[in-house]
Parts: sequence; structure tokens; C-alpha cells
Amino acid sequence: MGNLDNTLKSSIKDEIDDISEYTKTKAEPDTITTTGDGTSHSIKAETERSLDSEFKIENPKLSVQSLKAWFSGKLALKGINLDVKENCVTALIGPSGCGKTTLLRCINRMHDLTPNATADGKIILDNINIYDKQTDPVLIKRRMGMVFQKPNKKRLTVIIVTHNMQQAARVSDYTAFMYLGELIEFGPTDQIFKYPKKELTERYISGKFG
Ligand SMILES: Nc1ncnc2c1ncn2[C@@H]1O[C@H](COP(=O)(O)OP(=O)(O)OP(=O)(O)O)[C@@H](O)[C@H]1O
Ligand SMILES: [Mg+2]
Repeated sequence: MGNLDNTLKSSIKDEIDDISEYTKTKAEPDTITTTGDGTSHSIKAETERSLDSEFKIENPKLSVQSLKAWFSGKLALKGINLDVKENCVTALIGPSGCGKTTLLRCINRMHDLTPNATADGKIILDNINIYDKQTDPVLIKRRMGMVFQKPNKKRLTVIIVTHNMQQAARVSDYTAFMYLGELIEFGPTDQIFKYPKKELTERYISGKFG
């Protein structure tokens, strides 16, 4: 995990200072994943949105659509929709067992290697459905892991999982709060932490359960 820490420190944001503490305490190889190499994609400037409208990412780098995942027939992800913005850090937060790791493993095409694990839905990376039968899983893995081979400050699309609310608030641009296999709330990190729309999100980020 040492290499990973250094790569993240030097390539995402200079203010990531306790990522080593985080990876030490939560040393799963899949707690940090990356998507794509950021080539030839331009993102439209985000328009101002009113607080009560549903937040939407324009031209997402990665789009998770109606994703369901099962372990031995037991539903672990109950239809996740999540768009990931290019060259940004998206944090997945939520209590233990809510499905953060499962979601990352689906994105990395590792879920389909797990015995008795099945999935349904779409994960679109640059207009390619990574679960399409025609899509080469090896190619996908290579693109997902690009950060480790080619750190570049401006051109990384990163998804992190963390239990550390301070870290999520400081490091990420967008935050997705998950609970019991569902994505409860997603938006710009500032908004999620300062003005959560759902009571469940507010209760989780203020430490009332977890
Ligand atoms: N290999 C597995 N076999 C069976 N069930 C699993 C397996 N991995 C995860 N699950 C179940 O899927 C659900 C989601 O688990 P997951 O590990 O994705 O949660 P998580 O949010 O990453 O939790 P944590 O914060 O503890 O890491 C849980 O109910 C868990 O018990
Ligand atoms: Mg986990």
C-alpha cells in the first residue's frame, strides 16, 4: 500500500496527508480505484442548479446504471445509479455492509470473478459498457488501474472508499452516500456535508449512526 499512498499524495491533491493512516487502518486492495486515462474528453461547465433539483453530472467519465449485485442470490446492491465526473475525486461513504466495496469491485470487473456473485445493469466507461460480452475485461482492468502506471495530477478520475468523514470532506469533489445497498444521496461534497437533503445522510455524516 506504500506505493499507492505516495501515488495518491503526489498525484491527486497535495492536501491528502492522512491517506497513509487511512490505508493502514483500512488496508483493502480495493479501497481505492481509478478509472480511465482521461484522454480526449471534455466536460461541459456545470450549470448552477437549484438546491431542490436532482444533482446531475454532465458527460460522466463513468456511469453506473441500475446496477444490482448478488452474493449467493442475496441482493447486495439494489439498483445503483451513479455518474462519475472526469478528473475528479468521488468518495463513497456509508456504514459497514452498505455495498461500497461491492460497487468498486463491480466497477473493476472483480465482482464477476467472485464465486456465486452475479450482477445486472450497466457500467459505462467512455461509452463502452464494461460488462458487454464484446468488451475485453483485461483492457478494462488496464484502464481502471491507470493511475498506478501513469500518475498525472490533472488527469485522474478517482473513486475512493472511506469511513473517515473528515477525509471524504477534504479530499473529494463529489460524495455518494450509500446505505443498505442503495445510493441514498449524491452531490458535490460541500453540499452533501453542509446541506444534505436527506435526513439519513444528515444523521450519518453527523455521526448519529455508522
Ligand atoms: N464475498 C461475499 N460473500 C457474501 N456476501 C458478501 C461478500 N462480500 C460482501 N458481501 C455482502 O454484501 C453486502 C455489502 O458488502 P460490502 O463489503 O460491499 O460493504 P462495505 O460497504 O464495503 O462494508 P465495509 O465498510 O465494512 O467495508 C454485505 O451485506 C456483505 O455481507
Ligand atoms: Mg468495504
